Amino acid sequence: MRAFLGIGLPAVVREKIAAATAQFGGLRAPVAWTAPKNLHITLEFLGDISPERVAIVERSMRAVASGTRPFSLEAEGGGVFPGTRNPRVLWVGFLEPLELVRQLQQNMGNALSGAGFSPEDRPFHPHITVGRTRGALPPAWGERFFQALSGKGFGVVPVSSFTLYESRLGPGGAVHTPLCEFRLEGSGKRETREEREP
Ligand code: 2AM
Repeated sequence: MRAFLGIGLPAVVREKIAAATAQFGGLRAPVAWTAPKNLHITLEFLGDISPERVAIVERSMRAVASGTRPFSLEAEGGGVFPGTRNPRVLWVGFLEPLELVRQLQQNMGNALSGAGFSPEDRPFHPHITVGRTRGALPPAWGERFFQALSGKGFGVVPVSSFTLYESRLGPGGAVHTPLCEFRLEGSGKRETREEREP
């Protein structure tokens, strides 16, 4: 089963993103736009894993979630990976501070390593993939996308859980099915106590 761990988005955020990217749809650029229902933040891509490994992932992710307190993210602006001259992934980003989502992703990576997985060791750039190029884009297109989304707010994403998704690839695009939701149950008390220590 092809699987990944990620954060789902509220409908209002998905709708705002879809409205902002719709203006590019008419330009007939070779871009596969993400269906609004599929918009998400990927935390860890697991690839193809067996049912036995799914059970291991679930166990270790429950432990991570129980020690993480809920937080929120604010979606704003956008950009392209790897760069504006050769865009492949078109994304919407988030405002700082990003420490809590970075910490969560790092804790997940550590737990997955401990469970025998080889998590991504590339730097983590929290983003929502809104489109993927399917050919060369006209010059200046990446810059234009970046400029059009610059300063645009897409709303708050309350993160009170993260999700294990199955991702099926098909002719009509990927279909992501939530398999298991991990509620963030940390209290934040430990952090508060530590802050008070001299
Ligand atoms: P992305 O949006 O950050 O590119 C489901 O396919 C999700 O897993 C995608 O949204 C994608 O995240 C991520 N993903 C897919 N294939 C991947 C790969 N080979 N390596 C890392 N992440 C991948």
